[in-house]
Amino acid sequence: MASDSLRAKLGPIELRSPLIAASGTVGSVWEWADVADLSPYGAAVAKSVAPVEWVGRPAPRLAPAGAGMLNGIGIQNPGIGAWVDMMADRIPTLDVPVWGSAVGETPDEFAMVAKGLVSAGVPVVEVNLSCPNLEDGRMFSLDPSRASRVIETVVSACDAPVGAKLSPNAEDIVSVAAACVEAGAAFVTLTNTALGFGVDPVTRRPLLSGGVGGYSGPGLKAISLRCVYQVARAMPGVPIVGCGGVMTGLDVIEYLLAGASAVALGTVHLAEPRAGRRIARELRRELERRGETVPALVGGVVPW
Ligand SMILES: Cc1cc2nc3c(=O)[nH]c(=O)nc-3n(C[C@H](O)[C@H](O)[C@H](O)COP(=O)(O)O)c2cc1C
Repeated sequence: MASDSLRAKLGPIELRSPLIAASGTVGSVWEWADVADLSPYGAAVAKSVAPVEWVGRPAPRLAPAGAGMLNGIGIQNPGIGAWVDMMADRIPTLDVPVWGSAVGETPDEFAMVAKGLVSAGVPVVEVNLSCPNLEDGRMFSLDPSRASRVIETVVSACDAPVGAKLSPNAEDIVSVAAACVEAGAAFVTLTNTALGFGVDPVTRRPLLSGGVGGYSGPGLKAISLRCVYQVARAMPGVPIVGCGGVMTGLDVIEYLLAGASAVALGTVHLAEPRAGRRIARELRRELERRGETVPALVGGVVPW
């Protein structure tokens, strides 16, 4: 499905398509390969992995919420040792580059996981600095110096391009992104979910067992786009993966114009596992109609 017409470049990383499957919405990719066509994607990011098994939060941990959804999975994952055993032989058989996603509670934990991911064969590591479901509730990506310490440690430990996945809840997204780039990040992913909350009016219970969780889907798009736009304006040319609420090919074009070089699809996969195929078709049709390429649109927003 992907062809030269969708070629994209994310800093040093060549992509056959600007579409990336967002972490946590496509499992560890191989399970998803049974239900989806992987060829429309330039990469698929596996669910975040921690140094040891995390069991995640009890149900309920997904809930519809307005123009989007809430999740509070708690990064359920088998731990890096089991993940490498499960994935090392599978990664080369999949029809898409599988990127790893590292999570941890200290810079050294992130680095240990990143090294494991690379040993399993992932060509790129995304560092999840923005999980909203950690027990102490403190995201690394809310603070430029905490975020940059993690990135610096991961970059020096692992021999692959490293991306920093940031939170739309940061008070100053530009400072956090700049600190990560300065620390050696090859790209920034903007954004993870926004902190959200919902309550069942009948039972009076929170919609998620953990109370506060991550809000994603169409309602997030304007916020994530704003992050992309602000970072791209402050640091022209910085490689950005836009992420948040993408449902159509035109949404992808909006992210490219705001300054993203690639665009991740998340929540859309939960209701439509083959969304990548439709969105790639819509994007290709729109590019053809305009006589444009993906790289030519990046940052092309026209000021008033
Ligand atoms: C159920 C669910 C699980 C997620 N798990 C992860 C995760 O493990 N690691 C991560 O970096 N992002 C995770 N995310 C965030 C998505 O990758 C994405 O950044 C976010 O949902 C915004 O994009 P969207 O609006 O297209 O879903 C998760 C999102 C959802 C909905």
